[in-house]
Amino acid sequence: MANITKQTKIGLKASIYFCLFLLVVSLFFMRSNWSTAGAWMGRLSIYVFWLIAIAGILKRFRVKGFLYRVQQVLMANRRQLGILMFMLGLTHFFWSKVFDNILNGSPQSIPTYQPLGLLALFLCLPLAITSNRFSVKKLGKFWQTLHYLVYPVMFILAFHTSLQGKDFQILGIYFSLGNTVFYGLPSLTILILQIVSHFYDKKMKTRAV
Ligand code: HEM
Repeated sequence: MANITKQTKIGLKASIYFCLFLLVVSLFFMRSNWSTAGAWMGRLSIYVFWLIAIAGILKRFRVKGFLYRVQQVLMANRRQLGILMFMLGLTHFFWSKVFDNILNGSPQSIPTYQPLGLLALFLCLPLAITSNRFSVKKLGKFWQTLHYLVYPVMFILAFHTSLQGKDFQILGIYFSLGNTVFYGLPSLTILILQIVSHFYDKKMKTRAV
């Protein structure tokens, strides 16, 4: 078990440095067609974010057996996962948006989902910066409060992804069917589970006192 955790940590650290390396190198080979790879970085970023959220949900629901082992490995690597999610999101931002803006100029209008993506990325910045042992120690209780930001980030990402199309309308707002099914609804489901598990955990703790 300790071996799997250690290997996962090494793998995640290597992925963070590789992502940083890719982003830096890509700055020298700027092309508009980086956006296909950019979309993949966005997808990877949201998958990693879901994993982080699922780790917390499993912990608060006090799962046992195989799920407990999964939760242990994920929790032990939560900080590295957080930094990786941010790095992937940042690379996605550069490849899907910044490169295109630099090469082709700013567009006349900006679709709503883009400022939402920027807001999510901005809120992830303090989470990524404080994802280390020093900050946990130094910030104490405030570190936990700060990390409640994952809830609004999950909510914002559900809409950043779902609003990228015009397949159907709710309250006058257009949604993409594919993105709503593959990213929006899973994000909202995870968010609901996060909130429910939070209250379950609180209830169990007060019962134990
Ligand atoms: C942590 C932050 C972010 C995450 C996790 C994220 C995630 C995603 C995901 C999952 C997609 C759908 C990809 C697909 O079509 O399958 C997407 C698309 C997109 N995002 Fe983000 N995003 C983030 C931040 C941003 C930011 C800051 C911007 C720029 C303002 C941005 C611009 C875009 C664009 C332009 C697309 C469409 C990509 C394409 O179809 O080529 N995203 N994002």
